[in-house]
Amino acid sequence: MKDIDSDLLQTVKKRLPLEFLPETAVVLGTGLGHWVDSLDRSRAVPYFELPGFPESTVESHQGRLIHGWAGSSPVLALQGRFHLYEGYSAEEICLGIRLLARLGISNIIFTNAAGAVNPLFQTGSIMVIADHINHTGHNPLLGKNIDHWGPRFPDMSRTYDHSLRKTALETGARLGIRLEQGVYLGVLGPSLETPAETRAYRMWGADAIGMSTVLEVITAKHMGLKILGLSCLTNQNLPDCMAETTLQEIISQAETTGKNLSRLLTALIPKIQTH
Ligand code: HPA
Repeated sequence: MKDIDSDLLQTVKKRLPLEFLPETAVVLGTGLGHWVDSLDRSRAVPYFELPGFPESTVESHQGRLIHGWAGSSPVLALQGRFHLYEGYSAEEICLGIRLLARLGISNIIFTNAAGAVNPLFQTGSIMVIADHINHTGHNPLLGKNIDHWGPRFPDMSRTYDHSLRKTALETGARLGIRLEQGVYLGVLGPSLETPAETRAYRMWGADAIGMSTVLEVITAKHMGLKILGLSCLTNQNLPDCMAETTLQEIISQAETTGKNLSRLLTALIPKIQTH
């Protein structure tokens, strides 16, 4: 683990109006970046202008740190993330999360695109992550611990905050958006799963599979943030009737589901400011 570079902190403080420090930050995954267009008075810094930040190689990810307003609530957003399958280390992937925590946010909402392995979950639904399985084979906390960031062995027994989940479910119900709840399994990628793998993951208790989020969540938990995870289910990943899945389909389905996700985020953020 390396401490956050002071150049990075200074650059962000110079470029964004952090006198309006948000309580909540959002990480926007594949095809889900459009929500930031709905923010008022938004200011953005491209990742390539942030010292030490890796550059996103995924076309569907825009790569910007954004400060804006959802109604009367300020919010920070990472539009675009980094993945292990792009060749980045776990530590590089999690730099943005460390930065947000160092800036002083309290809540973090992770969004992602995922394949549904629970046969009852429909493509186009949103799943509130109740728990996760880190099957990436990586961990961002390897190496010397930075004790003022968090403990050597962070507890993961209640990682996804109960009251944030409850608020998300209530907000979804009020907006008429059906939300599932389940276990997200994080894989390394970039190859998708074979039928045998999907069958095994289902037996482990997974409801959805994706290639992100789990390492970022470990980092956020280590730094004591309250965590909410929202997966947009872009395809059904069922071993006995497996359909071919392409990135294009995943992105286009994420953009469709992203409309509901955007409504949910906009309604949710002002509500969790007071937590
Ligand atoms: N598997 C892994 N990652 C994914 C999937 C999937 O089916 N869908 C979207 N991201």
